[in-house]
Amino acid sequence: MVKPIRDTDGPRHVAIIMDGNGRWATQRGRPRLFGHHAGARRVREVVEVCPDIGVKYLTIFAFSTENWKRTQVEVAGLMSLFRRYITREARALKEENVRVRFIGDRVRLDAKLVQLMDELEQLTSGCDGVNLTIALNYGGRDEVARATQRLAQDVAAGRLRPEDVNEETLPRYLDTHVLPDPDLVIRTSGEARISNFLLWQSAYAEYEFVDTLWPDFSAAELTRLVQGYGRRERRYGAVPA
Ligand code: FPP
Repeated sequence: MVKPIRDTDGPRHVAIIMDGNGRWATQRGRPRLFGHHAGARRVREVVEVCPDIGVKYLTIFAFSTENWKRTQVEVAGLMSLFRRYITREARALKEENVRVRFIGDRVRLDAKLVQLMDELEQLTSGCDGVNLTIALNYGGRDEVARATQRLAQDVAAGRLRPEDVNEETLPRYLDTHVLPDPDLVIRTSGEARISNFLLWQSAYAEYEFVDTLWPDFSAAELTRLVQGYGRRERRYGAVPA
């Protein structure tokens, strides 16, 4: 059976493509990494407002499989930022009852970062407040390809019959297998693209593209978008007179 498209008023799962850090920094005559650091500081405020606005799952796109094409300085700076972010925020996330998970391919990430990711997942595994999922070295096509590889291994080993491969069984192999599909996907910075983010999972999602550059995005703006989703749903659900 295909999952119902939506079953609540507000979006239970919001996913965000945090775009515009580089332009934000350039506008200020600063290096791109300055924008990424400012962007990282916005994450906490956005996570913190989620329980107040009924968002139970928040998934954020931190680094894509395509982002390796950036300069070595920027990639190294981002990796160092992720290590520092995890180290610095771990205690606060646990205290705020946030359960953190990472999606994406860990194989290409450095061992120290992967260790910190594992530790943060472990540290917050008992938290049952907001579910924060950080997509790191994530690409939707890469995820589907990796999932298909594991699925094929199960078929080859006789654990799954080819006729049982369907819309229910395939997502069990995705990185997101424990998460519901996103209801609302937001992209900041005025670009109207999905850039390989949650391709399978967003089949029925609503999209919001806002002009705000990510370092200027606020809890208030997220609240407005979440409330807008609720209004739109109620209108679409109306029975015509
Ligand atoms: C896109 O802006 C942003 C990224 C590639 C990195 C996103 C990372 C953060 C917001 C850092 C913090 C995240 C965590 C979880 C600590 P861009 O550089 O593509 O901006 P541009 O389009 O203006 O160049």
